[in-house]
Formats: sequence, structure tokens, C-alpha cells
Amino acid sequence: MSIQSAARRVTAPEIRARKGGEPIVSLTAYHAHTAGLIDAYVDFLLVGDSLGMVMHGMDNTVPVPLELMIMHGQAVMRGSRHALVVVDMPFGSYEESPAAAFRNAAKVMKQTGCGAIKLEGGARMSKTIRFLTERGIPVMAHIGLTPQSYHVMGGFKTQGREKSGWQSLEDDARQVAEAGAFAVVLEAIAEPLAARITRDIAIPTIGIGASAACDGQILVLEDMLGLSPSVPGFVRKFANLKAQIEDAAREYGDAVKDRSFPAPEHTYAMKDE
Ligand code: KIV
Repeated sequence: MSIQSAARRVTAPEIRARKGGEPIVSLTAYHAHTAGLIDAYVDFLLVGDSLGMVMHGMDNTVPVPLELMIMHGQAVMRGSRHALVVVDMPFGSYEESPAAAFRNAAKVMKQTGCGAIKLEGGARMSKTIRFLTERGIPVMAHIGLTPQSYHVMGGFKTQGREKSGWQSLEDDARQVAEAGAFAVVLEAIAEPLAARITRDIAIPTIGIGASAACDGQILVLEDMLGLSPSVPGFVRKFANLKAQIEDAAREYGDAVKDRSFPAPEHTYAMKDE
């Protein structure tokens, strides 16, 4: 494909420039076909490490390996043309040092072709965020409920419900913004705090279980399609595909058993002699 005819994707600086403007729409995507279906309706697609739980039945995101993120990142890139694709850095691939983070983030970007990476952590990751952005890697930060800290938090817990916890979350948001992150995910943060952070920092906030005042929203695709076995209370199901899939499987099984499938139109006739 020539440079002239290549489809132009949304870029990280364009997302950054949407601060305070039209709300940013985003969903997770893990494979090519669903990425293709939703691509036109979102500004960015997140290849979230939630894929470990959603696609691979893990209990949390801690076991997700880098190679799995790269494989799903490649699939989402193949299936989409318009949205910025952001790939999550999995647990253990970036925390050790800025140099280790750069090595692994560069691998993700080279092998998937994605336009940005996401990593979890606020103030403690600001040095790494600066190191990556200064070396050509756009970073989306993620604060509040950070699922990779599952074992430290003792589960998935809403953040900032008591005012005593606000200051450290506000510091997290400010420091990732100052370090050069182009946007920050606010996950499961009490509504008034999420609204306040959105008002106070210079980069777009992307809420998930946070506040409609955020600069954008993200949901796990399978959650909002009604496919996930259980979802957090804040999720609105925009479809109920679980019931549709179960009905389709049941109907198919019945058709096989009563031999109404395959019908003649679903079989190959002999070639005319
Ligand atoms: O992994 C993921 O899907 C995420 C979103 C929930 C923001 O990080």
C-alpha cells in the first residue's frame, strides 16, 4: 500500500488535543473481527490486559504475558483502520526500570504497529512515563483501581470514596500529566473526585466506573455486550449477546438432533456432469 492510500488513524496527539472537547469514545478490543465491527464508532481501541480474564479465563490480569498482548495487538491492528490502537503493558513488563519498560514497549510497538501503550500506576510511574515519551512512545496512564495491583489491594476496590484518599489520587493524576502522558484512565474512582481531577489536569481523563464528567469513557466490549459472566455494577449493557449465543447454540443442537440441519441449501450438490 502506498503512503498516499494508507488509511489514516487517529493519533495520540489528537486524543490529547480533545481535552475539554467532544467526549472521547473507546472500547477494549482483543481480536480482529470485533475490532473491525466497532472501529468506526470509537476514537481508540484498547487491547487491555483484561483479555487475560475475558478471553482466557484467568482470575486476574497478573499472569498475562507480553507475548499474548503482542498477539492480540496484532489481531486488532489487522482488523481496524481508523481508531488509535493502544496496547496494555502487562504486569512485570515495565515496573522494574524505565529502561526495561522502554525495551518492552518498543517491542510491542514494533511487533504490533500500535500507536501507543498503556501502563498502570500514578506518581510511582512518572519517571518511566517521561522516559518513554521522550523516546518516542506515547503513553496512556491508568490510575485509581489498577487491576495489576490485585494482590496488594486484596481484590478489586473502588478508590477515593473517603476524602482522606483524595490527595494521593490527585497527585497521581497531576504527576502522570506532567510526565507527558497523553491521557489517563480513571478506573473505579468516586464520582466527585473523578470530576475534580478532570477539571484540574491538562490531559484527557478516560473514565471507567468514574464520572460522566470525564473527557471520555471506556468499557470492556464483552461487558457492554452482555457476554461477560459477571460485570461491575457501573457497567451498562448495551446488548445481551449472552442470551443470543445460548439461544443460537440450543437451536443448532436441536436442528442437528432432529436432522433438519443441514438442509439442502446448506449442502453441496454434485457438479453437473
Ligand atoms: O485492561 C483493560 O481492559 C483496561 C480497561 C478496563 C481500562 O485497562
